[in-house]
Amino acid sequence: MSTPEHTHDTSTPTAPQQGSCCSGSTAPSEIPPQVAREMDEPTVADSPAPIGLVIAFILLGFWGGAYLTEYNGGFRKDVFNHQQKSWVPVEASAAKKKDPAALGKKVFTANCVICHQTTGLGMPGLYPPLAGSELVLGQGYNDHQLILILLNGLNGPIKIKGETYNGAMPAWKDSLRDDQIANVLTYIRQEWGNSAAPITTEAVAALRGKHGTRAEAWTDSELKATQSTR
Ligand code: HEC
Repeated sequence: MSTPEHTHDTSTPTAPQQGSCCSGSTAPSEIPPQVAREMDEPTVADSPAPIGLVIAFILLGFWGGAYLTEYNGGFRKDVFNHQQKSWVPVEASAAKKKDPAALGKKVFTANCVICHQTTGLGMPGLYPPLAGSELVLGQGYNDHQLILILLNGLNGPIKIKGETYNGAMPAWKDSLRDDQIANVLTYIRQEWGNSAAPITTEAVAALRGKHGTRAEAWTDSELKATQSTR
């Protein structure tokens, strides 16, 4: 009696080693108790993802989309500059771009240097100086008169810094915009040691409107007559 049991108990674990491995011939009844008491092998459960997690991911997707819409910076590669050390140069250069005198210098270089020269000294006997000029600085003249001669030009004798000139300056109202005239006047009022208040675009626009029908250039005496009617 004991012998078959003994053989039964002990031979089964060694059976696989004797060549029956993996043949699938091992019947459940042959599983030894040591093995049978082990837990089941884990299986892949077919359970759905928690609904809370699904909602959380949907909300995250919406938030991401909203964030991109708001902060995409136009998807420009230079919006974030990792090499930037300070904010100051950027603001300074932006301010410089809008500086009326700097813009006015461009207008001056393109339109006025040919006669009044980069030095602002003009040419003796031909083109009057802008540096230290009474008309530019508003000494005995006012802002309106300065703007008027830029809009319509200037003709006939005029005394600047003790010298009398008798030439003709062309009108600029057809070739320069109000802001360009304002900027160039602001520039010549601050360059070459000159120091006078800036000229605004609004002031130029107002005078262009007021004298819009006038075609001919101003003369010094006509200009002086406007002083009372400004
Ligand atoms: C073709 C030459 C010429 C050009 C270009 C020219 N001017 Fe003149 N400008 C003159 C002459 C000539 C006079 C003096 C006119 C007179 O004798 O009546 C004058 C007079 C002036 C005056 C008043 C007198 C003075 O010296 O202050 C100002 C201000 C002036 N010009 C500014 C300008 C500005 C700004 C520009 C450019 C937008 C310009 N001019 C372009 C020839 C020129």
